[in-house]
Amino acid sequence: MTNSEVAELSKQYLMNTYSQLPVAFVRGEGCHLWDADGKQYLDFVAGIAVLGPGHCHPKVAAAIADQAGRIMHTSNLYFIPQQAELAKRLVELSCADRAFICNSGAEANEAAIKLARKWAGMHREPDCRDIITAHKSFHGRTLTTVTATGQEKYHKPFYPLPAGFKYVDFNDLAALEAAVDDNTCAIMLEPIQGEGGINVPDPAYLPAVRELCDRRNMLLIFDEVQTGMGRTGEWFAYMGQGIEPDIFTLAKSLGGGFPIGACLAKQSVAEAFVPGDHASTFGGNHLACTAALAAIGAIESEKMVQNAKAMGEYFHARVSELQAEYPFLAGVRGRGLLLGLELEGVNGRDLQVACLSNGLVINALGESLLRIAPPLNTTEREIDEGLEIICQTAAAM
Ligand SMILES: Cc1ncc(COP(=O)(O)O)c(C=O)c1O
Repeated sequence: MTNSEVAELSKQYLMNTYSQLPVAFVRGEGCHLWDADGKQYLDFVAGIAVLGPGHCHPKVAAAIADQAGRIMHTSNLYFIPQQAELAKRLVELSCADRAFICNSGAEANEAAIKLARKWAGMHREPDCRDIITAHKSFHGRTLTTVTATGQEKYHKPFYPLPAGFKYVDFNDLAALEAAVDDNTCAIMLEPIQGEGGINVPDPAYLPAVRELCDRRNMLLIFDEVQTGMGRTGEWFAYMGQGIEPDIFTLAKSLGGGFPIGACLAKQSVAEAFVPGDHASTFGGNHLACTAALAAIGAIESEKMVQNAKAMGEYFHARVSELQAEYPFLAGVRGRGLLLGLELEGVNGRDLQVACLSNGLVINALGESLLRIAPPLNTTEREIDEGLEIICQTAAAM
């Protein structure tokens, strides 16, 4: 099939839930993609921060192929070696003691919300069920995680929503303190807001939120679905902030392209869950956990976390150099390879489409911001190439 044939078929048979760009990718390798018409692209989206180790990383692809020929799935009625191993790896890498493995970011956040409420039922008053999240946050599309998402445009068509969520402005400690009451059991935040516009909080904000949670006996939940697994130049974005969450969630890059999510927690919180409280048929099956173990192995052995940090710094430096020549480059925000390229005088959505024609896959977050989230092993040369396409494309618009 050609790009346009895939588009036709999709429009005829799929529910109309996505505004899709007119291209269908059929092959990926490292930082590159090829579409159904044979055209090659540089990928600065990486499946929206999913392909941490790059497309079809040989170690991930081989591990999946090998495992697929042995055993893919049984059930959580039985022990699963790879699931236990993955939980051990994630615990060793992080501040958590226990993991629940699921299939996506929304599911990981559902688990976190249920765990926080179960914990509160055991350690706080019976009405203590409320969770405060941030405006412009994004936590998923299930009914509960879309409610946790502090963006009204995602709520309106789906009333009635589950109760028990309140929203405050991100990075506004006073607003958060004012919103907390005796019914607040948890605060749930992305350490850097992703979908909401690569919003990085002030250095003092997250430590102060941690202190507030300790003072009011509330749990701190970090949604690291987008920021986790090395994306920000640390294995998890909470690292380097000098604090630890009680619960945090992962998905996206965790499986190196294979669907998997995880909710991790400290022992004192995790122990609130007992058999029957939570489950997932597919969650943590042999195949998904094998993919995640291989992805973690690749990220670790090829030092991709360190590379993400270095390449993030390189990107910032290159944009500073280019700004004099290209005034549409208004600035960069973000850390590691989760970056927002701020635009002035050029429409981000139009630039996204034009860059695609010019061989660069890029994601516009609104009209004045491009999200830069390439594979974690992206090189200086690829960053130069991508910036060159962005600059030349914008200059021609
Ligand atoms: C921070 C964050 N949380 C949760 C989600 C939802 O993840 P999923 O689409 O895997 O359900 C996303 C997806 O973009 C996200 O960025």
